[in-house]
Amino acid sequence: MTITARAAVHDGAGNRLSVRTVQVADPGPGNVLVRMGASGVCGSDRHVLDGEWQLPSPTVMGHEGAGTVESVGDGVQDVRPGDHVVLSWFYPCRRCTACASGKAYACTGSRSEECVLPDGSTRLSSGGDPLFPYLAVGSMSEYAVVPESAAVRIPAEVPFDVASLIGCSVATGVGAVVNDAGVAPGESAVVVGAGGVGLSIVMGLRLAGADPVIAVDVSQEKLEAALALGATHAVLAGPRSVDDVRTIVAGGVDHAFEAIGRPETIEQLPAYLCRGGKAVLVGLPGVGTPVRFNALALAENGQSVIGSNYGSTVPARDFPRLAKLYLAGRLPVDRLISHRIRLDEVNEAFDAMRAGQRTRSVIVFDG
Ligand SMILES: NC(=O)c1ccc[n+]([C@@H]2O[C@H](COP(=O)([O-])OP(=O)(O)OC[C@H]3O[C@@H](n4cnc5c(N)ncnc54)[C@H](O)[C@@H]3O)[C@@H](O)[C@H]2O)c1
Ligand SMILES: [Zn+2]
Ligand SMILES: [Zn+2]
Repeated sequence: MTITARAAVHDGAGNRLSVRTVQVADPGPGNVLVRMGASGVCGSDRHVLDGEWQLPSPTVMGHEGAGTVESVGDGVQDVRPGDHVVLSWFYPCRRCTACASGKAYACTGSRSEECVLPDGSTRLSSGGDPLFPYLAVGSMSEYAVVPESAAVRIPAEVPFDVASLIGCSVATGVGAVVNDAGVAPGESAVVVGAGGVGLSIVMGLRLAGADPVIAVDVSQEKLEAALALGATHAVLAGPRSVDDVRTIVAGGVDHAFEAIGRPETIEQLPAYLCRGGKAVLVGLPGVGTPVRFNALALAENGQSVIGSNYGSTVPARDFPRLAKLYLAGRLPVDRLISHRIRLDEVNEAFDAMRAGQRTRSVIVFDG
């Protein structure tokens, strides 16, 4: 049986989304039909809309989602109708060597980035033509069909707006701190860019016991949010950012995170670091954008620059842990959300993001 859903579709050109009715087919074997509860509006969706990354199109956007399992296809064992689930935008294949080693984030069999299910199909269509769910999630839709390994059960007490953010910004930010940087209690850190992802890094640093935690942003509003979420210092971005940070921590910080995706701010990361310090690239630039580092200085200072994808998250392990930390009051994800909006208001949310406004907009679906 095919059902209909209202969805935000990107037709491949221009940065506007069209919110329209699409068709959603039954989940096939191994797949799960999810009625969406909420979807975050993440900077990665914006890269696509602004033509910085290319995708199969037309695309149902959204990759930061949570909802309720409506029905399951043959063979699905991990979830059942009625379960509340957070969706993963990088579904593990569960068969490759990386998956067998517990490193779902390094899976080589996932087809998430092709925006298709494991068998290469999509269950979404419009007028008979296929639609591709962004990163095989497509959470800006009333319904989504995802592989079983992309739907991770969490306690029903976690509200959907919070749960949706666990699916991208929170897993990415906390994972960058805990899984990738391996921050130890008392180590110092700077976070450049305090949007949804940067603020999640700030929350992760607080959880890890880092001190001081310095947020850098061009927006005063974002800096205030960072202080409210656990940053100890806020620095307005500008020509003096590095000096200001090095005044707070003489000799430079142990960890520097970039959460914008601009070449200029990425190239500046080593300047914040102490000898032996570690820079972590979380923000994503446009495809093919080069950055330059002073190799001699990096080597002489024993510094490293690492890339961080999805915070090296293992969804089945990390989503329930993050949900538990939220319920215990140790990860105030609800305070990341500045705007709860309807699906029809999605274009305004991206415009606000382009203007550097709002910490996180979250689309909340009816029912
Ligand atoms: N690595 C990953 O796995 C991963 C996952 C999710 C998102 N991302 C990427 O993280 C980046 C941030 O995403 P987001 O959703 O937080 O976006 P966002 O737009 O909410 O946040 C960006 C922040 O950067 C600030 N900013 C802009 N220019 C600045 C400058 N010159 N100096 C200091 N601050 C500046 C903005 O004011 C804003 O607060 C994007 O590139 C996104 O694609 C990466
Ligand atoms: Zn995201
Ligand atoms: Zn795999």
